Order: sequence, then C-alpha cells, then structure tokens
Amino acid sequence: MAKPILVLNWKNHHNSLEEAKTLLREMSGKKSIYKKLSLFIAPPLPYFESVSAKFPLASQDISVPEILKSFGVRLAIIGHSDRRAMGETAEEVSKKIKIALRSGIIPLVCIGEKVRDTDGEHFEFLRGELKELLGSLFKREAEKLLIAYEPVWAIGKSAKDSINPDELSETLLYMRKVLSDLFGRKIAEKIPILYGGSVEPLNAGALSPKVRGFIVGHASLKAKNIEAITKAITK
Ligand code: PGA
Repeated sequence: MAKPILVLNWKNHHNSLEEAKTLLREMSGKKSIYKKLSLFIAPPLPYFESVSAKFPLASQDISVPEILKSFGVRLAIIGHSDRRAMGETAEEVSKKIKIALRSGIIPLVCIGEKVRDTDGEHFEFLRGELKELLGSLFKREAEKLLIAYEPVWAIGKSAKDSINPDELSETLLYMRKVLSDLFGRKIAEKIPILYGGSVEPLNAGALSPKVRGFIVGHASLKAKNIEAITKAITK
C-alpha cells in the first residue's frame, strides 16, 4: 500500500535559521519513524539548503521551477489560501499547476471553502473551485496531482475548532464525485487527498483514516507534535 503523506508547511513561523536547525536536528534523531511515510518539509526560502540536507524539500509556491529544482524541491504547495488572500487568482493557480507538472514537481493543490454553515453552500463552492482550478487538465495530468482539502475557516485555529471526522468524510465523498465528473471514476479514486486545517496530535488519529495524509502548519514547529502526528497516520 502507498505510504501516507505528511507535508510540514512551515510558512514563516520560525524566527531564525537556528530555531529551524534545532527542529531538524531533533527530527533527525527519530528518522526511522519518518521512513514509514512520505514526508516533505516546505520551509521559508532561506532555509531550503538546511532542510534539503536532511529531508525531502517542498516549496510554498512555484514561480521559477528550474531554481526550485536546483535546490531539490520535489513538491510544490499551489493555491494556498494565504496566497489567494494576497490576490492570487484561479487562473494563476491553474497555470502554476501546469508549470509544476511540466517540470516534474508534484503539485499539491489547495482547495477549500472560506465558510461553512448548515445550508450546505460550501458544496457548491467546492464544486466550482475544483472545476475552475482543475477543469483544463488532461486525465494524464490529473493522475499526477495531489489535492489538499484545506477549509479556510479551520486554518490556524486549534484541534477543537477544526473539522470533525464525519464532516470530513462527507466532504471528501462529494469532492471525489466532482473529480469523477471531471476525470472519470478510475482517476478520481486514485488522486490522493490530504487534509489541512489545524491538524494537531489531538485530532490526527480521528481524521487520519479518512485521508491519505496531512498538511500541517502551526503544529509542525515542534518535534514532539510531528512525531505524534506521524504515529497517528502510520498506525
Ligand atoms: P494550520 O495550517 O495547521 O496551522 O491550520 C495549515 C496550512 O495552512 O497549511
């Protein structure tokens, strides 16, 4: 069976390179547990070399793929809500997905509604977003995607404010249906979907059976959290 995937999205959280290096050293001491999954770290740009010396490197965006590749970047987070909030358009996200695919970098495409209430409008939003961002891809391109379902309302909060396992199951089922309308059932079932949005040791165990893995922000700054989340998804 394919390994679970864990993407550590460090954003700009670390205050210094020294802080990041300490975390990398602590993680390296437990490398055997990370062999059970496909782990990627997406650090701020100045920390690329320090990270890539120890763990597979990811980028938080994709601009010039040749430069990223020269640092060893294997996966790029594309369309994260932080960038969308800064004005990145759906058209730009679609272009970046193609750039990644052409250059052999795995695109991790972020999808997620801004708000969720009981009237279910978020389903329509997700349908629209999936179609808008992925609709122009060929089936052979879609097969190479990773999707991160990251509801914006759940990002940067805490485990108790995050999505619950039933809501997650229902949403993923719906997303697979839309993917199936776009690319056919066989491909839709194969596209790995990760979850992101306040994944912490507290909720990782309950959410992990629903998804192929996680993208983790604030909880990825402490070795003991990363270890606990890793244990939860490799159980
Ligand atoms: P969070 O961030 O885990 O802090 O919610 C996730 C993300 O923004 O990718």
